[in-house]
Parts: sequence; structure tokens; C-alpha cells
Amino acid sequence: MAKAPTVIILNGPNLNLLGSREQAIYGKETLADIEKSARQCAKQLGLAIEFRQSNHEGEIVDWIQKARGKASGMIVNAGALTHTSIAIHDALRAVGLPVIEVHLSNIFQREVFRHQSYVSPVAQGVICGFGGQGYELALRAMARLVAGKGIA
Ligand code: DQA
Repeated sequence: MAKAPTVIILNGPNLNLLGSREQAIYGKETLADIEKSARQCAKQLGLAIEFRQSNHEGEIVDWIQKARGKASGMIVNAGALTHTSIAIHDALRAVGLPVIEVHLSNIFQREVFRHQSYVSPVAQGVICGFGGQGYELALRAMARLVAGKGIA
């Protein structure tokens, strides 16, 4: 049997605090709960996943660079770095894999400083406002992308 395509799921600063952090905005699920659901969903879709979180921009840049030649796509919730990090933007652009941007909250309903994303210009699409479920929606979309089905 052919090896399952690998999708790297990257989570940025403070997402390790999910479950206790601003529950009204981010919900009650922990990052471990989200990872568990993502693993189940990926299995059904025939995808392998690597699920990671870091509070450090440089570590995230390193992971993006290392995805080259190893992964078929990336699902990225860069947390607050979404709104600030040209380094993450450049790394995603350099690696050139399909990217789906995810946010638990609807960033466009929130403060103006969250309306700008440095990830969106290098992402195939954005899923935001659906809580932890957004990761499963992104995996479904990624399964089609890596199968070469595009948006049709
Ligand atoms: C977030 C939205 C960001 O604006 C915020 O800084 C986060 C989480 C989200 O998932 O809704 O840390 O990426």
C-alpha cells in the first residue's frame, strides 16, 4: 500500500493554553482534544499527521522549512504570529506546499489588529470561527488538495 501523505499541523503561541484561555472566545477544548479529533479525522481520510505547537517564531520557521520534501501540505494556526510574522510568511512561500490557515475564532469579528494576516496571502484558503472543528474542516479540504482535486 502507498504511504499516507503527511500533513503538518502547526500551532503558534498560547494555543497550548486552550481549554483554560478565554473560553468564551476559544471554547473548552484543549489542544490535546483537538489533536485527538484531528488524528481520528486524518485516519479516515487516509492522511498521516504531525501535530505541533510552539510559542517561538523561530521554531515554527524551522518546522516549516523542514516540511519541504517530507510533507504534502500544512495546516497553520499561527496564533498572534498570524498578524505579525513576515518570517512565517516568507518560510511558507519558500517551501511552496499547499497551506490552509485555521483560526478557532472569527478573527474578522474581533479587534482590527487581528484582521490582517501574513499567512492568508500564502494560503490556499482560510477557515475561521468554527472552534476546534476548523482543524477537521481543514483536513477535509487538504485531503482533496493533496489528491489533486483543487476547489472543484
Ligand atoms: C487565533 C486568533 C489570533 O488572533 C490569536 O492571537 C490566537 C488564536 C485563533 O485561533 O482564533 O492566539 O489564531
